[in-house]
Amino acid sequence: MKIAMVGSGYVGLVSGACFADFGHDVVCIDKDPAKIDSLHKGVMPIYEPGLAELVAGNVKAGRLTFTTDLAEGIADASAIFIAVGTPSRRGDGHADLSYVYAVAEEIGANLKQPAVIVTKSTVPVGTGDEVERILSEANPGVQFAVASNPEFLREGAAIGDFKHPDRIVVGTEDDWARSVMNEVYRPLFLNKSPILFTSRRSSELIKYAANAFLAVKITFINEMADLCEKVGADVQDISRGIGMDGRIGPKFLHAGPGYGGSCFPKDTLALLKTAEDYEAPTRIVEAVVAVNDSRKRAMGRKVIEALGGMDAARGKKVALLGLTFKPNTDDMRDAPSIAIALALSDAGVEVAGYDPEGMELAAPLMPDVAMQKTAYDAIAGADATVIVTEWDAFRALDLDRVKRIAAAPVLVDLRNVYDPAEVRAKGFTYVSVGRP
Ligand SMILES: NC(=O)c1ccc[n+]([C@@H]2O[C@H](COP(=O)([O-])OP(=O)(O)OC[C@H]3O[C@@H](n4cnc5c(N)ncnc54)[C@H](O)[C@@H]3O)[C@@H](O)[C@H]2O)c1
Repeated sequence: MKIAMVGSGYVGLVSGACFADFGHDVVCIDKDPAKIDSLHKGVMPIYEPGLAELVAGNVKAGRLTFTTDLAEGIADASAIFIAVGTPSRRGDGHADLSYVYAVAEEIGANLKQPAVIVTKSTVPVGTGDEVERILSEANPGVQFAVASNPEFLREGAAIGDFKHPDRIVVGTEDDWARSVMNEVYRPLFLNKSPILFTSRRSSELIKYAANAFLAVKITFINEMADLCEKVGADVQDISRGIGMDGRIGPKFLHAGPGYGGSCFPKDTLALLKTAEDYEAPTRIVEAVVAVNDSRKRAMGRKVIEALGGMDAARGKKVALLGLTFKPNTDDMRDAPSIAIALALSDAGVEVAGYDPEGMELAAPLMPDVAMQKTAYDAIAGADATVIVTEWDAFRALDLDRVKRIAAAPVLVDLRNVYDPAEVRAKGFTYVSVGRP
């Protein structure tokens, strides 16, 4: 089957490469010529483990091509996916659907064969109706249907998630669209991945409900961590103790500096806006958004406390290790490191930063942070070393070396990756999230 993927960012490129790997004939389209140019040269525009090899293999096999020309890219495609960004709209927090609608218009103006238009972007309830209206108005004169197929992959583990999904959700009321989508996902279906068919509106809402629920879990355990600090309990034991309950499950119960990234912050906000518009407020999600927002800066205050308080902190130096919102990605969108770095600079603290993959994108977002070539360069002369993102490279720092080169042996572990007893035995002051 020929598939067109409009938008070749994280989701479009990973999905396109995986569909090609299933044996489909895939064209990835993007309006950014630099991105397509770099893909033609075999250089990945994003960092995602395994992606370069997957893309190279499928390009070589002739199943995966790239273009900036939408009309050429969608020609003969039976399924045309829309995988462009849906960021928060400036000013009100609604999902900005202008990219999705612009693509719908362009598809409408260029469609020459029957095709199912599939929204993979995360879009609010009712967006499929609007895409359908735009296409009908453009009147391509050929059969088309609009389906919803939200994506649940995680950056950093995107290929594995795409190829072994917990479920595939497809929203459509149209039998033909259903059969096309069955064909698209047949290799996964044969692999026993469940496909859940729903109405288009339910499918659109499932994506937001899933992300909001995960954000609730993270925020819940973060608040438990704060409580643990006050009462002398250990949040990791709390996570284990509740996570072993099959009704709760162990995932997304790691206390930390608050969620960030390209999805949770904007999707929780967009869900609130939809709920507001339909006069069905989601109070739990409202609280989660507010708690998470304030948490990131609070982590900056935690570091300042570890430096001895506001007065003592002024003029001191801090090493921030890990700037991306999570490991194994270069994505800096809404990363907690940004708010932490700002809180520290505001308090007159000098900040050095290091990230294995994210520094290029981080640098313009945190102009006051001196980016370093290695973790140890950042730690040299630091009064506190802060683990913001749990890249593997930071899980086994040479603590003797850290002690030698740092100005003070202070480790602030915002991801709870170290054993407090071990670190303290090396003579460190150790500060964690929610552990005694
Ligand atoms: N990143 C994730 O982990 C993730 C996971 C699940 C769902 N999503 C959702 O998927 C969607 C895409 O996210 P992303 O992270 O891949 O975004 P992204 O910003 O990485 O990529 C979007 C791409 O679309 C391109 N584009 C925009 N307008 C275009 C047009 N008119 N024609 C062709 N290309 C166009 C941009 O140039 C960009 O390369 C969003 O709705 C997001 O919420 C993202």
